[in-house]
Formats: sequence, structure tokens, C-alpha cells
Amino acid sequence: MTGRPWLSIILAAGLGTRMKSAMPKVLHSVAGRPMVAHAAAAAVEAGAERLALVIGPEFPNTESAAASLRDLGRRLGFFVQAERLGTAHAVLAAREAVAGFQGDAVIQYGDTPLLRGGTLNRLRAALDGGADLAVLGFEAADSFGYGRLVLDESGGLAAIREEKDATPAERAIRLCNSGVMAWRAERMLPILDAIRNANAKGEYYLTDAVEIARSRGITVAVVTCPEEEVLGVNDRAQLAVAERVMQQRLRLAAMQNGATLIAPETVTLAFDTRLGRDVIIEPNVFFGPGVVVEDNVHIKANCHLEQAHVHAGAIVGPFARLRPGTEIGPDVRIGNFVEVKQATIEAGSKVNHLAYIGDARVGPDANIGAGTIVCNYDGFNKHFTEIGAGAFVGSNSALVAPVKIGDGAYIGTGSVVTRDIEANALALERSELKQMPGWAARFRARHGK
Ligand code: UD1
Ligand code: MG
Repeated sequence: MTGRPWLSIILAAGLGTRMKSAMPKVLHSVAGRPMVAHAAAAAVEAGAERLALVIGPEFPNTESAAASLRDLGRRLGFFVQAERLGTAHAVLAAREAVAGFQGDAVIQYGDTPLLRGGTLNRLRAALDGGADLAVLGFEAADSFGYGRLVLDESGGLAAIREEKDATPAERAIRLCNSGVMAWRAERMLPILDAIRNANAKGEYYLTDAVEIARSRGITVAVVTCPEEEVLGVNDRAQLAVAERVMQQRLRLAAMQNGATLIAPETVTLAFDTRLGRDVIIEPNVFFGPGVVVEDNVHIKANCHLEQAHVHAGAIVGPFARLRPGTEIGPDVRIGNFVEVKQATIEAGSKVNHLAYIGDARVGPDANIGAGTIVCNYDGFNKHFTEIGAGAFVGSNSALVAPVKIGDGAYIGTGSVVTRDIEANALALERSELKQMPGWAARFRARHGK
């Protein structure tokens, strides 16, 4: 494989009007990550040194929009294309990144989230044989709308013809342009600068680079890939198709890694979900980003997890919700209708039924009874609850934070705990039980029964 450094230029300035969205198209997510971050991740995975992202002026300049990209930890530059004058014009918005760059420049699209890093490197490898430009093509099931790859008599790429400019004979060609191109960087700018906009759309077409390159004696190579990888997302229906393909890939990878997915088609994974060996996932489980599930964990049906770490041997669900900041220790039991947020449940503890544990630490081997609620919020601030090792919290207790339950303490059923409880104490907050013998019989008699 080529040892040349390379730069990825990701075009993402399109308006994406068909998404009918207030958010730029490329920030819509597939498997919990913006599409443009998938494109960038493929480049990073394939070893790109630098990334240049071409965005429109309305791309939100906020931390959150860019955060998923910065996470990639690469030298990432943003370049604004002020006016959308075509794909060649878009690439030239990143001129500064290309000028003086020694290596390969690869053009990708920000709305093509399924492209694999390996394919980018296969395309770059085509530059090893003397070509200065390599185009990624695919056999389209329906080629309508795509640029067609027009080959010469010797099978070389002669031109790319856009749908609107193509002759009927050219329209019959099924080999299409994916839009991805690899260049010897130093060759690219002079050719893109020569592109004019005398075509059906009045745009500066990147695809015209092929004919110009040929006319200057530059060799152009073609590499093909499966159509699925270059699926472009223009509307929400295509977004759903991309999601489906991505989910299939993620599920397959999880199973190949040793997890059992009983009904894989009902499990939704995130791009970064990590499932260990001998993990069992029952049907209808949803993973948001940031979930790590260690070996031998059993996640029962209908759970929702995000930014949570589940340690080995734990059993979660059915119908459990693990929210961000959750740490489920080894061999912990989290049962039905239990919600955990920003909390650590240490080894061997049980929270088996109908409970809310938020902003808390539960020590090892504690038992949290059915209906226990940690009252962590006073309407303004969140407060912390600490439950000691081996503590027993009786059913239907309310622990009003900030509060600390000492190691080994018992909380009597139905208590509202507003003060710290010392280790090994029994805390009971309950009015005395009254019994009125014969009352029920007298009451029924009054009603004629
Ligand atoms: C383009 C190709 C076509 C190819 C198809 C594959 C050209 C002229 N045509 O057509 O050969 O088969 O992709 O999907 O290149 N963009 C900008 N600024 C612009 C214009 C576009 O950033 O001024 C970005 C878009 O956000 C998008 C990409 O470039 O990510 C492609 O633009 P689009 O308008 O979708 O091109 P197509 O007409 O689909
Ligand atoms: Mg397009």
C-alpha cells in the first residue's frame, strides 16, 4: 500500500433541501453519528493525515455541531463555500489545504456515510501505477441522475458525462460516478482551475476534470466498489436506507465478535457500541452512542442504553433504561422498569424492580427494593445520594438527596429518608399502624351485606 500522506476533502456545502430540515443535511445521524462524521471516520480509518471539510455558510458554527468531528482527533480544517457554484468550485474552497500538500488528495461527499476506509485506500492504490487521478465508479441498478463513466476504445476513462448533458447512448451506460476521486495533490489545482461552467446546469462540474486531465496527457484510472457503499442521502427515505445498511453491518460485526443477538433485525446499535464475548442481547434493545458492554452480560428485551458501561456478568432488563453516566458493576442485576442515570452501581448489587437511581453511588452487594426512588432534583439543582455496601433499601422508599445511607444499614419499607443514616442502623419513617377489629364487618353490614 502506498506510503504517501493524504488529505481528505469532504464536500458538505449542499443545502439538502429535500431533507426538509432546519439542520444541514450532513449533520443528520446514521447509527448515532452525523453522516459527515462517518465520511470523516472512513478517511481517518484509512490513515488520512488531514481533513478539509467544505461547508455552506449556514453550517452551525457551534461546538456541538463540530464536536463529533473534533473527536476524530485529526487536523481538521473547515472551509466555507460562500456560493454553491458546483462540485469543482466546492473543492476549490479548500484550495489552501491542497496548495503545497505533498501526497494524495481524495475528494469525498459528506452525505455518503457508507463508504469504507478500505475502499479509499484501494482508490489511492490506483495512483501507484502512474495515474494522477483515480475515479471511484459503481454499477448502478438505476443510473438515472448519476454522471456516467464514458470509456475509450482501450477501456480507459475518457470522460464523465452528467445526466443532463449526456447523449442517449451515454445515458445507457450503467457504470456511474460515485463522486469520490483520488488525485496526486500537486496535479489537482491547475486542472480544477481550468474547469468552466458551460453546461446544462451552469455549474463548475468536478467531473469535467477527467477530460481536461486526459487532454493534458494525464492518466486517469477507474476503481469500482459496490453501489451500497456510495449510497448518497438526499431525503429521509434514503437516510432510513443508509441506517438499515449500517445497522446490518454493525450487527454482523457484533455477532462476529462473539455476541448473540437473538433477533438481530430488532436491535439498534450505535457506531461505537462495544459488545463483549458471550453477551446475549434479546429483542428490541436500543443502543445510543457511548455504550460498552463487557463479556457475559445478558441484556433482556426492550432496554434503552446510552453512554453506559455494563461490566461483566451483569443482567439488565427487561424494560430497563440506562442513561448517560451509568456504570453497572460486575454481576449487578438491573430489573424491569428501572432507570439509572449518572450513577454507579457496584459489584453484585440488585435493583430489580421499578426504581430510579440518579446521581448516586450504590456500594457493592446492596439491595434496592421495588419502587425505590432517589429524589435527586429540587427543581434547581441535582444532589447526590450515596448508598453503602450491603445496604438494604426497603420497597417504596424515597431517598431525598443529598443523603447518605451507611454500609449495611436497613431502610424500612415506605420510608422517606431526609437525613444521613449511619452504618448498620435501621431507619424507619412511617406512622404507627392502627388496627380496628371488626370494623370491616360492621361497615359491610351498614351497606346490607
Ligand atoms: C454528483 C456528480 C455525479 C455523480 C453524483 C454521485 C458532479 C458534477 N456530479 O452529482 O457525476 O454521479 O454526484 O452522487 O460532480 N456540493 C457542494 N457545493 C456545491 C455543489 C455540491 O459542497 O456547490 C456538495 C454536495 O453537498 C454533495 C456533493 O457536493 O455532498 C455532490 O453534490 P450534488 O449536487 O449532490 O451532485 P450530484 O448532482 O448528485
Ligand atoms: Mg447528489
